[in-house]
Amino acid sequence: MKIAVIGTGYVGLVTGTCLAETGNDVICVDIVEEKVNKMKNGELPIYEPGLDVLFDRNIEQNRLKFTTNLAEAIEDAQIIFLALPTPPGGDGRADLSYVLGAAKDIASLVKDYKVVVTKSTVPVGTADKVKAVFKENTLVEVDVVSNPEFLREGVAVDDFMKPDRVVVGTRSENAKKLMEELYAPYVRSGNPIIFMDERSSELTKYAANSFLATKITFMNEVANLCELVGADVDMVRKGVGSDDRIGKRFLFPGIGYGGSCFPKDVQALALSSEEYNYDFRILKAVMDVNQSQKLKIVEKMMNYYKGDVKGKKFALWGLAFKPETDDIREAPALYIIDELIKAGAEIVAYDPEGMENVRKLKGDALAFADNQYQALEGADALIIATEWQVFRNPDFKQMEEKLKAKVVFDGRNLYDLHRMIDLGFYYNSIGRAEVNTKQA
Ligand code: UDX
Repeated sequence: MKIAVIGTGYVGLVTGTCLAETGNDVICVDIVEEKVNKMKNGELPIYEPGLDVLFDRNIEQNRLKFTTNLAEAIEDAQIIFLALPTPPGGDGRADLSYVLGAAKDIASLVKDYKVVVTKSTVPVGTADKVKAVFKENTLVEVDVVSNPEFLREGVAVDDFMKPDRVVVGTRSENAKKLMEELYAPYVRSGNPIIFMDERSSELTKYAANSFLATKITFMNEVANLCELVGADVDMVRKGVGSDDRIGKRFLFPGIGYGGSCFPKDVQALALSSEEYNYDFRILKAVMDVNQSQKLKIVEKMMNYYKGDVKGKKFALWGLAFKPETDDIREAPALYIIDELIKAGAEIVAYDPEGMENVRKLKGDALAFADNQYQALEGADALIIATEWQVFRNPDFKQMEEKLKAKVVFDGRNLYDLHRMIDLGFYYNSIGRAEVNTKQA
């Protein structure tokens, strides 16, 4: 099939590349000429494991192309994906100007029937707004379809190639047929393509992300309670998650959810509910708890250092909001950095992918190390904020030698408590006993 993808951000690039991989002709459009030229030369502007191989292969096979020319891109396309940003506006609501602007541009150019798909996460009612733009600006028949993405950063290629489900919101038989054909290769293992109306599809995305954010937040509260009652959250998590109705995934407590989706989507759903005079109370509690959870580590440190960290030096392992990405949007590490610097501490950070982005954002406010052990040199303690694999089984001997004190605050529960007891580290994690407190 012939596909155009408007917007070459994270979602657009993953979508375009993965659609080309099953043999479609894909052309991606962006207004930034420099970016388009780089992509034409095979330069992938984002970091996403596994994407580069598919990207190179499909460019080489001429199935994946790039242009700044919208007219050229949509001329032969049967399906046009809108993968444009919908950043929160000043009032916290999703800003639809890019999506509606692109719809207007497309409307002025279309000559024959097209299916236009909104791929960006958009508030309920957006498909209707896009439809209205086409109605006002062209006489050509256009079907507007909602097809939310459920990609997780770090495993986006896998999520796209083998989705748990594909949600398609449309009431047009034509559009349904085309979308079914397009997604058939991705659901061969029997996972469903679920067709529904546009509004239900738009709400599905928000409900899914908000539910997952709620699940994590609930577990974070259970973890906080575990610390008070002397229970171990690892055990509680296993006990609870073994119930099929609850499930094992997304029950890992930590220092709060971050990233480009959960925080934005939970807030957007709460705000849209308000528009319909519905007070979605549980979401407000989720946002509130998550905000304080991000600072849980700092709270623990303040307790340990009796409220004074002035002049102390801390090593920080992990900046990205989660492993296998350089994305630092709403990363708990950023909140930890701000608080500790405000309290007069010094920070030396290491992250396998996220350092460049933090450097751009925070400049000289903190220092960066070349590797995880260098960050420890002369530090009063180690803080762990992201569960990168390389942090899971470190050289504890080197840690002991480099750190000034054997003190670890772990926001991701990476180490076994018994091991830490044996190794003699003061170790404070989330929802588990504090060990080797005598060290303190
Ligand atoms: C999420 C959704 O999973 C995806 O379906 C949607 O399309 C976009 O938003 P992503 O933001 O890439 O994907 O990351 P995800 O792996 O879902 O993690 C989100 C946040 O939750 C991270 O900050 C992560 O650390 C946190 N998390 C996740 C936990 O704290 N505990 C868990 O058990 C799982």
